[in-house]
Amino acid sequence: IHDNSQEASFYVANEIAELIRQRQKQGKNVVLGLATGSTPTKMYDFLVKFHKEEGLSFKNVITFNLDEYYPMEPDSIHSYVRFMNEHLFDHIDIKKSNVHIPDGTLDKEDVREFCEAYEKKIKEAGGIDIQVLGIGRTGHVGFNEPGSSINSKTRMVRLDRVTRLDAASDFFGLENVPSKAITMGVGTIMSAKRIVLMAWGEGKSDIIRQAVEGEIRESVPATFLQHHNNCDFILDHAAASSLT
Ligand code: F6R
Repeated sequence: IHDNSQEASFYVANEIAELIRQRQKQGKNVVLGLATGSTPTKMYDFLVKFHKEEGLSFKNVITFNLDEYYPMEPDSIHSYVRFMNEHLFDHIDIKKSNVHIPDGTLDKEDVREFCEAYEKKIKEAGGIDIQVLGIGRTGHVGFNEPGSSINSKTRMVRLDRVTRLDAASDFFGLENVPSKAITMGVGTIMSAKRIVLMAWGEGKSDIIRQAVEGEIRESVPATFLQHHNNCDFILDHAAASSLT
């Protein structure tokens, strides 16, 4: 629990930067699982700052994003491709071929094959070293909404109404929010060697309490993280305020 989201974001960015530097010395890659949304933006700002001011290189970094709306064109203002470019990739020296984001432009019949290939690419890259997560008010991680099983893999999902309502202002109305998304599964996330879930603000305090202290259950997918042996919740005081 940190004093504020700025300090907490610095802490997470530092952990990621340390691993990147350590692997660089060994001549090895780092595989990062990345999230979008309002929560990780400050953390990305710090990574960009480390690149610009301290020369942190991302040449040995491979990334896999958690999710993308479906359907979604990459150049749409709502796309997670655009989000990642604006907040991180356009400002660092990562190789574009090392960046992976679920493809919102696929034909329906090609989604399944794409998802299987996404899982395969994660494995071939050596598995995710650090998975960055936010959490939705439904308890989703990635877009694994209530009802997602602990073994679920990358797939097309239907978004919960609460999630769509939370996105409505960004999309200028609920009717414009896609009803589907492609997301890594809970099982994909659980396979990461390390998981860092960040949450800020009082609006997240109730779901944080359920995720950390609640019974492990499919109706709150984030509770599955209690089974992970190297998972930390990085919170500000407000998000932690309902913990007992
Ligand atoms: C985003 C993602 C979602 C968000 C969650 C919280 O890639 O997978 O699970 O992390 O909806 O969103 P924010 O951070 O906007 O509150």
